[in-house]
Amino acid sequence: MPTNLREALVEEIKDIYNAEKQIVKALPKMVKGATSDELREAFESHLDETENQVTRLERVFELLDEKPRGKHCAGMAGILEEGSDTLQEDAEDSVMDAMLIAGAQRVEHYEITAYGTCIAWAEALGLTEVAEVLGESLAEEKAADEKLSALAESGINDAATAGESEDEMEEDEEAGSRSTEGPPQTGVSARSASGNRPANGSKNPTRQRGGRR
Ligand SMILES: [Fe+2]
Repeated sequence: MPTNLREALVEEIKDIYNAEKQIVKALPKMVKGATSDELREAFESHLDETENQVTRLERVFELLDEKPRGKHCAGMAGILEEGSDTLQEDAEDSVMDAMLIAGAQRVEHYEITAYGTCIAWAEALGLTEVAEVLGESLAEEKAADEKLSALAESGINDAATAGESEDEMEEDEEAGSRSTEGPPQTGVSARSASGNRPANGSKNPTRQRGGRR
């Protein structure tokens, strides 16, 4: 049991070291589960960042004169288990993407909290370099979180509302310009085209997601 703040800091660093390693294992599954190219790229680039964050924590252990050792992070295990349940769902592509973003943002917020605490404790203890190194990872976690919000809000949530994948929306847009229901709908954006539909009226049961996991 930690008896002072320095020991508590070391415990927290062991916890987040283990959490980051769990994330390194989980992210490739999220890359496979994502259907939007942009989301897949976001997960891939965060995997690179996460590997670097593991290395950064090894540097922190060195600065603290401790051996790099993890301690099972049950909190992260729980969040990732929920994410793995999400991947088992048989959801429309865009709905799956929206749910994967939700899970990934839970991961980011957990990490933001953990790094924030460790930085405050390191500063209180006068461990300036430790705080600086941890601050680099904190900045990456915050940026990753904001990027996920931007992705959700710049199309994925809208596509999920319409019950369509972005690919299907593009196909619909092409089909729309050949529509017999009225004048050619040239210049109609994919988003506004799908926005005119009932939320679930256009779902084609033969196009449901499958075989992607
Ligand atoms: Fe991380």
